[in-house]
Amino acid sequence: MGLIAQDIITQILDRANIVDIIAGYIPLKQAGRNFKAPCPFHHEKTPSFVVNPDKQIFHCFGCGVGGNVISFVMRQERMEFPEALRFLAEKTGVEIPETETRNNPVHELRQQILRVNDVAAKHYHQNLISDKSDLAKSAREYLKNRGLSLDDAIKFQLGLALDGWDGLFKVLRAQNLSAGFLEKAGLAIAKNQGGGHYDRFRERIMFPILNARSEVVAFGARAMDKDNPAKYINSPETALYTKGQYLYGLNWAKEAVSKQDAVVVVEGYMDFITPFAAGVENIVASLGTALTIDQIRLIRRYTNNVVMLFDADPAGQSAMIRSLDLLVEEGMTVRVAALADGEDPDSFVRKYGAEEFKKAIANAQSLFDFKIKFLKKQHASGSVESNAKIAGEMLTTIAKFENAIVQAEYLKKLAQVLMVAPEALSLEMKKVKPVMTRVAPAELQPKVVVHPIRPVERNLLRLMLEEKDFVPLSRRDIVLADLQNAHVRDIVAKIFEMFDSGLEPTPTALLGCFEEQAILDTITGIVASEESIAGDRHKIYRDCTLRLRQESLKMRRQEILRQMDIARSSNDDKALEDLTVAFNQLIKG
Ligand code: CTP
Ligand code: MN
Repeated sequence: MGLIAQDIITQILDRANIVDIIAGYIPLKQAGRNFKAPCPFHHEKTPSFVVNPDKQIFHCFGCGVGGNVISFVMRQERMEFPEALRFLAEKTGVEIPETETRNNPVHELRQQILRVNDVAAKHYHQNLISDKSDLAKSAREYLKNRGLSLDDAIKFQLGLALDGWDGLFKVLRAQNLSAGFLEKAGLAIAKNQGGGHYDRFRERIMFPILNARSEVVAFGARAMDKDNPAKYINSPETALYTKGQYLYGLNWAKEAVSKQDAVVVVEGYMDFITPFAAGVENIVASLGTALTIDQIRLIRRYTNNVVMLFDADPAGQSAMIRSLDLLVEEGMTVRVAALADGEDPDSFVRKYGAEEFKKAIANAQSLFDFKIKFLKKQHASGSVESNAKIAGEMLTTIAKFENAIVQAEYLKKLAQVLMVAPEALSLEMKKVKPVMTRVAPAELQPKVVVHPIRPVERNLLRLMLEEKDFVPLSRRDIVLADLQNAHVRDIVAKIFEMFDSGLEPTPTALLGCFEEQAILDTITGIVASEESIAGDRHKIYRDCTLRLRQESLKMRRQEILRQMDIARSSNDDKALEDLTVAFNQLIKG
């Protein structure tokens, strides 16, 4: 990894105010000297997410996650440490010298792909707007027929891949971008024989896929000829782009989504563009798949309320069904909208206009109503068995709701709809384990604390974090081996190391030194908590260090005694003798 120098990290930490940065994502409310909000990293109603401006840290007392502004950005933007630093450097105007970044191959590759994509998008766009060929003319005609104006084409940066085999290739090579990078960006394909490359996208309308920061991460490409068997082709997965990680249109929609506190999720490129251009701006497209966890989390940065509007065909419906449970698991509120007559959002808006479209969204049905109708169609016989199947599937969904009252309401409703005894459903419900559609990512799994932090260690660490005078004292009075909790030991080791090299081990500086989340959580958990050490701090300090040393001695004595037992039972006189010496020294020392 190309390491970024500590002084650059410090500069960034100095300049990036955590309150401003976090307030850019979630609404913060002042509470005393802290700020509070519902945690963006887990689902909750009562805010337990705290931002402390003095210490420049955040901590959630609900899920235990915490850190400094860098770790917040890493989590929120799903960035690696160096990427988050660069993100913040840009926001705060800190310059990271070229040499610092050159050594990170993955970052370098991603940057190159972004550059290549950017050049490609501009080239395609230019083709569409001003190329004189017949193909370009018919492309403009095609878009016009689909109801798009020139302004729309500009706004969404649409483009055209011409019909040659190396149009883009030549342009990119002229800019000194290597063929290897073009291939890695998914824009050129290596020829099977004889070497060389050719353009992946030819004779197609180009839809650049932008991330939330409006950088081109990939392309979708539509054939204009309706007999073309491959209607859309897309960029392959690259170092930059994984399918299902992005939502098409989010970069344009995010403001409207957070303002209206709701988002409409559709399937296709045009299903996003046409409604958006007609004024429905809180809309994004999943690009032909069921929603993924990554996409749901992207949405959750802006809203908890989702209206799903997928095509009425079997593929769309089954993608929708798969999305629903995941959305509920992630604590989102979901409704499902439908359009008449097999229209998709694009064709519907063109036919009936945006107002009708808004009505369809307003009339979206609840997840419950949608799913039960869907299941009833699937198991249409009305037999006892099919009713049991419907009940089973509905119960799995109902079990995913966190709120017991909501669950009870749905159970009541289900009993009515299926005309079965509510008691029977309640019984069945007990059998439904909350089967998660996905495995909870590590960060959301309950943390296994191997060694809980003992109060004595916690208090000592708190003293060092709160008052710098306790650092030199501790440095003199304890050794790392006195500490039993591995995280506390790592933190104290770092504190000592910084102290030894003349740096001030403030919580902020410390947080910049660790990437391991559990360690960050430990630091912020202590710093952000309201509880404070009451009483004579120096006396408490002396008690802590004394206890630590005594306990550590005791443990070492016990360990030696244990080894003496082993030596005795194996008649190892030499070992026994050594251990006895060590034991005596320990008692004296
Ligand atoms: N899709 C894709 N590759 C395909 C088919 C579909 O990537 N071979 C994605 C595209 O993002 C597409 C979406 O799935 O927009 C929905 O597919 P579909 O409903 O078949 O196409 P439409 O969006 O209706 O496309 P159009 O209106 O341009 O015909
Ligand atoms: Mn369509």
